[in-house]
Amino acid sequence: MLDDKDRIFTNLYGFQPWNLPSAQKRGDWDGTKGIMARGQDQIIEDVKASGLRGRGGAGFPTGMKWSFMPKEPKDGRPNFLVINADESEPGSCKDREIIRHDPHKLIEGALIAGFAMRARAAYIYIRGEYIREAEVLFAAVAEAYDQGFIGKNACGSGYDFDVFVHRGAGAYICGEETAMLESLEGKKGQPRLKPPFPAGAGLYGCPTTVNNVESIAVVPTILRRGAAWFAGIGNPKNEGTKLFQISGHVNKPCVVEDAMGIPFRELIEKHCGGVRGGWDNLLAVIPGGSSVPLVPASQIIDAPMDFDGLKAVGSGLGTAAVIVMDKSTDIVRAISRLSYFYKHESCGQCTPCREGTGWMWRVMERLRTGDADISEIDLLQEVTKQVEGHTICALGDAAAWPIQGLIKHFRPEIERRIIERGGPALLEAAE
Ligand code: NAI
Ligand code: SF4
Repeated sequence: MLDDKDRIFTNLYGFQPWNLPSAQKRGDWDGTKGIMARGQDQIIEDVKASGLRGRGGAGFPTGMKWSFMPKEPKDGRPNFLVINADESEPGSCKDREIIRHDPHKLIEGALIAGFAMRARAAYIYIRGEYIREAEVLFAAVAEAYDQGFIGKNACGSGYDFDVFVHRGAGAYICGEETAMLESLEGKKGQPRLKPPFPAGAGLYGCPTTVNNVESIAVVPTILRRGAAWFAGIGNPKNEGTKLFQISGHVNKPCVVEDAMGIPFRELIEKHCGGVRGGWDNLLAVIPGGSSVPLVPASQIIDAPMDFDGLKAVGSGLGTAAVIVMDKSTDIVRAISRLSYFYKHESCGQCTPCREGTGWMWRVMERLRTGDADISEIDLLQEVTKQVEGHTICALGDAAAWPIQGLIKHFRPEIERRIIERGGPALLEAAE
């Protein structure tokens, strides 16, 4: 579906060095000063016109987000750009590849985005476990400073702009944008209530935009090639190219760039050599990282892989971390494992999440072994509804949705285990 000439990440597999000379051969830092000369408002208009939606999972329109930033500093508070490289969503590994092999796309994007939103500095918050990636990023930032691409009079534009790299310490919740701001400020990484959104009160209480790595890294190419070029790829309201990260039971797992909206079957056939054991062996797919509900095989096969296409089948694009599960998968165990993850990563700040995630995991474990009462399936569903939408951040929803998806699509399998095990209600009924 996507022409090779339309690829943005031409060094995704690291066949060429990541360094500045090599990046410049790939077109990075070409005419950056000219792009900045278009002016801040025009850059924001171009990004709006491109249709770019946030690539970190939520899909919020990027240009619109930038336009929330004040044009004049209020009460002497500077604007900040924060780049979310705390990629921790189970299944997600695309930002890692960008930083490993194409870090200059991110740094150039930081300058252009920061300039457009009138920020004087960008903080790149990189996941603590990404040790080698952080080394590459520190080195690439140093190269950009040495060449005068960032720092004082960045690219000869007359605009001063700094880029700081900040390493996380291994907490999933620090990928939530307000927890990230707390962490950057040196505090415990716990989400803040929204509103206010970061554009109103973000880092150190100053106007801040938090963007995902991929969202920022595609910006220089969009501005070089034109908004219409990007908007011409994909589907309406789901424009552009996207990095898909395909793991699980496919013949060749990979990270690949293709057009938004590519049908699931085509994505897997074209890039992964099909499903292990053939299409009849497909059981279910989690199409957007662990925070979105699973979709059974019959509903995913023809679904367009974009925000709206996956919403229509009761799931979401999320980060486009596509987890493919064949019929050998113990689906109850797989979802129970995710429940454990969310219980472990809950920051403990609000009761429905702190208590609910542990409670849901314990019931999921009983469903896994079959040591449960059939009535507990409905009770678990009810508890997920009490957690969903009743917490400070989206982690509560993320813990609830996979379980809801499991009950919706695989209830007979859960019941089968309980019946085979002879759970309490059945034993009582037999008495
Ligand atoms: P969200 O929908 O609350 O916000 C999205 C963005 O839009 C935020 O930057 C927010 O500040 C901004 N925004 C939304 N409404 C606004 C308004 N009225 N005014 C100003 N700004 C506004 O979603 P959230 O919680 O930021 O992200 C959830 C997503 O993150 C999930 O869909 C999940 O897929 C993804 N995720 C990604 C991970 C990763 O490793 N990349 C990890 C965990 C979750
Ligand atoms: Fe913390 Fe969970 Fe509440 Fe988010 S939902 S603030 S992770 S306790």
